[in-house]
Amino acid sequence: MGRVQNKVAIVTGAAGGLGAEDARLLAREGAKVVVTDIDEDAGRKVAAEIGENAMFLRHDITSESDWQAVMKATTERFGGVDVLVNNAAILAYGTIEDTSLELWQKIQRINSDGYFLGCKYAVQAMKSRPGGSIVNMSSLAGIGGMSSFCAYSASKGAVAAMTRSIAAHCRMKGYKIRCNSIHPDGIKTPMVFNLHSTLKPGQMPAVRDAKEALSRMAEPRQIANLVLFLASDESDFINGAEMRVDNGWLMWAD
Ligand SMILES: NC(=O)c1ccc[n+]([C@@H]2O[C@H](COP(=O)([O-])OP(=O)(O)OC[C@H]3O[C@@H](n4cnc5c(N)ncnc54)[C@H](O)[C@@H]3O)[C@@H](O)[C@H]2O)c1
Repeated sequence: MGRVQNKVAIVTGAAGGLGAEDARLLAREGAKVVVTDIDEDAGRKVAAEIGENAMFLRHDITSESDWQAVMKATTERFGGVDVLVNNAAILAYGTIEDTSLELWQKIQRINSDGYFLGCKYAVQAMKSRPGGSIVNMSSLAGIGGMSSFCAYSASKGAVAAMTRSIAAHCRMKGYKIRCNSIHPDGIKTPMVFNLHSTLKPGQMPAVRDAKEALSRMAEPRQIANLVLFLASDESDFINGAEMRVDNGWLMWAD
């Protein structure tokens, strides 16, 4: 038996990066996995690689009707929803001084509104099940705040606070639905590798030292292992937790 045997898991943003690794690991541990993303070609490849226990759905997390369609298609194919990994997000450089309102709103729309919709429809779908687990991918930026990512930090802070609110609501209502957030520092995925190629001179000078930056970054599997644990019943008393995965980066050094 796998650690999430026969659970039905939706993973957003699973066409690549961390989401793809989450989907592979959950499937390897027995889950039926719905791979969703706006990137159809890459998403279909991930689902095909996993095999018959996976399906791909084209899904823009900012669209309420897409969420309704994903919940419906998942229930029709696999019988319900037990796990939601809210993972899809975008990252763009911008301090408070050089972030436009347009960029701010674009980031909140995906990274915050998209997660709200996912949680709303997941709670609705999981209420009638024996239990459920929502895993919200936040960031160390949502705890610490990063000067170069003002809008992104705010969106990830919103995810953390929303997570706590949902956890409290589900506990008080007696739903067996847990909601937790994960806060990684850097992860070796296209999100960060693509960011570096878009930086202009003078932006983020501290991370120009690629070797130092890489030494701080996790492999996707090191984060996916925690996603698996939170998705499984092994974590059935963990609710509303804010889990940093940063190798102690936020701690004081002496
Ligand atoms: N990479 C890091 O260093 C890092 C650090 C901390 C937290 N995170 C978080 O981890 C999660 C995964 O990040 P990643 O590094 O794998 O990123 P990534 O850019 O490699 O992958 C993100 C995926 O989300 C998809 N996506 C973007 N907008 C979407 C939308 N509107 N609807 C549906 N899908 C959409 C993309 O197509 C892509 O496949 C994100 O929530 C990110 O904020 C990443």
